[in-house]
Amino acid sequence: MKPKITIFEAIHESGIALISKFADIKIAYGVDRVNCLKLSSESDAIVVKSVVQVDKELLDYSPRLRLIGRAGTGTDNINISEAKKRNIEVFTVPTGNSVSAAEFTILQMLMLCRRIPEVTSLVDNNDFRRSLLEGRELQKMTIGLIGIGNVGTLLAERLEAFGCKVLGFDPYQKDKTKFISHGGICEDSLNDLLSKVDILSLHAKLTSENYHMLSKKQFKKIKPGLLFINCARAELVDENVLLEFINNGKVAAASLDVLNPEPPFDLSPKEHTYNHELLNHPKVIVTPHIGASTIEAQKRISINLAEQLEFYFDSK
Ligand code: MLT
Repeated sequence: MKPKITIFEAIHESGIALISKFADIKIAYGVDRVNCLKLSSESDAIVVKSVVQVDKELLDYSPRLRLIGRAGTGTDNINISEAKKRNIEVFTVPTGNSVSAAEFTILQMLMLCRRIPEVTSLVDNNDFRRSLLEGRELQKMTIGLIGIGNVGTLLAERLEAFGCKVLGFDPYQKDKTKFISHGGICEDSLNDLLSKVDILSLHAKLTSENYHMLSKKQFKKIKPGLLFINCARAELVDENVLLEFINNGKVAAASLDVLNPEPPFDLSPKEHTYNHELLNHPKVIVTPHIGASTIEAQKRISINLAEQLEFYFDSK
């Protein structure tokens, strides 16, 4: 009998085509929690991204579940230890979107250097006084990266070409050779890094240890005029403190691809009442978690995940 696989979050059609050759697929994008639990209880495998919470409750509801496919990198929405207790495997595609995330971060850096949030709001008001909008060059800036895994290393490679100095802080990363080979300099102290950098960009996984790793104590160490980028996870930062430091001018501008809570990705504006204090701020660019949203990355991820699923069920 074919395995039953429920796909809860949108993946590229090429992966769906591959999965449908060996499994009975149910597409259940954006279903509410009740239906999510019901469908999960009937599945041998589920596919999620970062929205569906694969927590103890869902696992308790899913006695038949053997496999969780995470179409991406982070697993902070999956209770890995509870999955392990039940012998449920978790498959990810850790490098599938690294290039897209690195390219997106470079875009954010350039946008902040050229004050694009302010430019946009002026032009939206029919104001074209370019003398008010002088930006900065990225060249010669000191960039701080928190997290020097796949994305951090690709950034060091790209920023080398821009003529930047790149500092990295990552107590978990054992192999730092690639980062260093692109001119990256490793800092052992987060406070030291914070006091030296013009741009700070986050590329760390969210764990129970690094929740709000950037709070008041850390923001007090930053160089005034910092440009702040978060394309990783919102929970790494105390957002209230970030807003305070944007409003007092110590953070000149911020670009946020992630917010806590995340906005409703599957609803039209008429269908939701989502709001966040960092939205519509003249010094903040907000994007809806699209760092990995390229055709190339999504195709790569869905095909790789489909192959992992097929290999697993073939070998059973
Ligand atoms: C990831 O963890 O892979 C990225 O944040 C993108 C996503 O969640 O889909």
